[in-house]
Amino acid sequence: MNRHIAVNDLETLDRAHVFHPSTHLAQFARGEAPSRIVTGGKGVSIVDRDGRKSLDAFAGLYCVNVGYGRQEIADAIYAQAKELAYYHAYAGHSNEQVIRLSERIVSRVGLGMQRIYWGLSGSDANETNIKLVWYMNNVLGRPDKKKIISRQRGYHGSGVMTGSLTGLPLFHDAFDLPRSPILHTACPHYWRHGQEGESEAEYSRRLAAELESLILAEGPGTVAAFIGEPVMGTGGIIPPPEGYWQEIQAVLNKYDILLIADEVVTAFGRTGAYFGAHKYGLEPDLITIAKGVTSAYLPLSGVLVGEKVWQALEKGTDEMGPIGHGWTYSAHPTCAAAANANLDIIDRERLTENARETGAYFLKRLQDTFADHELVGEVRGAGLLAALEFTADRATKARLDPALKTGARVAAALLEEGVIARAMPHGEILGFAPPLVITPQEVDEVVAATKRAVDRVAVSL
Ligand SMILES: Cc1ncc(COP(=O)(O)O)c(C=O)c1O
Repeated sequence: MNRHIAVNDLETLDRAHVFHPSTHLAQFARGEAPSRIVTGGKGVSIVDRDGRKSLDAFAGLYCVNVGYGRQEIADAIYAQAKELAYYHAYAGHSNEQVIRLSERIVSRVGLGMQRIYWGLSGSDANETNIKLVWYMNNVLGRPDKKKIISRQRGYHGSGVMTGSLTGLPLFHDAFDLPRSPILHTACPHYWRHGQEGESEAEYSRRLAAELESLILAEGPGTVAAFIGEPVMGTGGIIPPPEGYWQEIQAVLNKYDILLIADEVVTAFGRTGAYFGAHKYGLEPDLITIAKGVTSAYLPLSGVLVGEKVWQALEKGTDEMGPIGHGWTYSAHPTCAAAANANLDIIDRERLTENARETGAYFLKRLQDTFADHELVGEVRGAGLLAALEFTADRATKARLDPALKTGARVAAALLEEGVIARAMPHGEILGFAPPLVITPQEVDEVVAATKRAVDRVAVSL
């Protein structure tokens, strides 16, 4: 490497050499889109190289659940890296960290889960899910039962198949996605899509009937699985309407269709229950985890495999030999060490309970603050997930002109107030998912700053 390059400014080097995800590449390269070089973090806050501190009310990408700067996790990573940084898990090889991690998660989650297949990202875990569902139906002699139903505005990753599961046009356009055999059904957003005079429970029944019609139109013998986030995340932070999961579950059971619960965001306390499946009474066959399993101190994801699928996998390998699925880094001991230290903190500091209690306080404070605000149509949330949805008219719920970029402007104004929230990629929505260690005092700070930011943008519109 040439260490004497004339340009030695980190920002210039970044703009010249780093390909940033989810970024306007041309504007960033030209220096028109903002750059931020983050240098540290402690508790709920991060700091950049200019010394600017921000309260991170989105926990990175809803993942730094125990907060920044945890010595205990760093020490666990260091100790494991010294002892055995890596060995593979192929052909029955294992390590103590991953064995202990798998046992504690499977026994804590229950729900008939049998084993965990380990990966490194939510996307790769959902790729695994799709392959397991297809493999299972081939083993069971049902080669036509392969379609997977996802939901409009669902988010399940950005690989070829997982990007297809994702129900957001931004992740499809110009990528030739979605691919067959992925189908999409309605997004369960009562405030936006509920009809005049329709109760939440009636709305849920209508969505289940729509799902059933789709299954019947496609042929139940061709539909293998349904995938959904217990609380929709990137599509706009949308908790399920009353009775939704029970209605959906009944349709899936009727047609022998598997349920994949994508808990990449919701697992390990975020909704105020240990898993979203517990909170909403889901009976999943497969569960995806990532993010909160290590609080993102190292990458790690997993697929929890329920009994029905597990039996088929055993049958398949008895018939065909070892399963043809594996990643080099599966069951990585150093990542598993980070996860064990992280899950110890979640238990010891009762962070699931904090998500429930401080989450309820956060939602109430947002509701009280924005109850009559002209720009805010809906305030919603579950545990430590919350969102404001902006509207041009509270009475008619009219959409704001996308060209105004209201969500992005509020997020930018809020950043100036010292708080990070996320303008969600679809619609004019500001999302919150702070670290689970957030205190009521910090919530007050976030809400006050948000009020100032929303007021400033409302005046400017
Ligand atoms: C529900 C859900 N599933 C899957 C993913 C994909 O995870 P990753 O970005 O680690 O591939 C995400 C990422 O935000 C997610 O929110």
